[in-house]
Amino acid sequence: MTTTTETNAAGATPDASWAERAAALDAANPLAPCRERFLLPEGVTYLDGNSLGALPAAVPEAVRDGVARQWGEGLIGSWFGEQARWWELPHRLGDRVGALLGAAPEQTVVGDSTSVQIFNTLVAAARLRPGRGVLLTDAGHFPTDAYLADSVGELLGLRVERVRPQEFADAIARHGEDLAVAAFPAVDFATGERWDIPALTRAAHEVGAVAVWDLCHAAGAFPLELDAWDVDFAVGCTYKYLSGGPGAPAFVYANRRHHMQMHQPLTGWTGHAEPFAMHGTYTPAEGVGRARIGTPTILSMLALEAAIGAFDGVDLEVLRAQSLSLTGFFIECCDALLAGRGFALVTPREPERRGGQVTLRHPDAATLVPAAAARGVVGDKREPDLLRYGFNALYNTHADALRAARTLAELCEG
Ligand SMILES: Cc1ncc(COP(=O)(O)O)c(C=O)c1O
Repeated sequence: MTTTTETNAAGATPDASWAERAAALDAANPLAPCRERFLLPEGVTYLDGNSLGALPAAVPEAVRDGVARQWGEGLIGSWFGEQARWWELPHRLGDRVGALLGAAPEQTVVGDSTSVQIFNTLVAAARLRPGRGVLLTDAGHFPTDAYLADSVGELLGLRVERVRPQEFADAIARHGEDLAVAAFPAVDFATGERWDIPALTRAAHEVGAVAVWDLCHAAGAFPLELDAWDVDFAVGCTYKYLSGGPGAPAFVYANRRHHMQMHQPLTGWTGHAEPFAMHGTYTPAEGVGRARIGTPTILSMLALEAAIGAFDGVDLEVLRAQSLSLTGFFIECCDALLAGRGFALVTPREPERRGGQVTLRHPDAATLVPAAAARGVVGDKREPDLLRYGFNALYNTHADALRAARTLAELCEG
């Protein structure tokens, strides 16, 4: 397999020794028992947890309980009654997610979709820097982030400039104190490249700008230190590495120092200081609660609450080490087994520049990905020629990585 800068001539290792290496690495994995916390279909190698995480074993019962007992028996009393306390779920869950983000309690809430929260947060961030003219965002950002940046720019009269994160320092120098907001992803959704959150946040702060991070491909994939890195705002989904389920609600992190000034455009009643007083005008809640919007999607939140239990007792540094071992081994397998078959590695080889995903390029990606899925290896494709394989260290194995590379090799043999 090639990268843009090198040609790898590996491939001499016999097949059996790859399997032995995979088995040895899996046997030494301290997180191996966590796989039991997920319900994975027999025979399927699931490498699409960077799109939709696998089903955590605790979720079906939690949802059943939420429907049958909390809703069916508790009825409306479940909003505040001890049997459920639904009303505080966005905060309870926010703190659980926050713990995985390096955020002290009462700075993270869960609710609504990532897109809604990106909009709300970008506007709130820009309003903290009135008089500045530029919103800087990633030229390779996920489409919803790009569209919403444009929309926010149009609404607030900001010039939206798109740069790649490696050009960020130059862009900051160019805009200086005209830069209001810098909005970037922690990991590129297409290439799997991981960006340096603390360094880019510091750079934004040096010119007094506000940094907003999209953590969709980072939350639950590796340790984060949002408080220590002095991140301003972060938004992310919970259906990828957090395995909260299809359409699981987003989270929003707002650094405590912004709580009193932040002013979101979506001033829904649940973010009001006194939601049940039914005032005619909006007064925001004092803390991060002002980032709440409307009635929480309780059934999805109960699924997410159970899903997050899969992280109980897991040291995120150990999870990161396992994740890098999985992606590194997959890259090695691809180097060896796919050499000369038209694949190129898109994700950086340096471990610190990867998240949990490895992206390959191949002109036949559009047919290879579904053909591999038909043989039990589920990944996904991105136009025009990318194959994405996401590794979740809570349930993926080195044997999965080897099987994926072997399956692609077999498909190329015809
Ligand atoms: C970086 C990034 N942002 C946002 C989203 C999706 O936003 P939403 O949950 O609103 O569909 C995705 C989905 O894959 C994503 O990868």
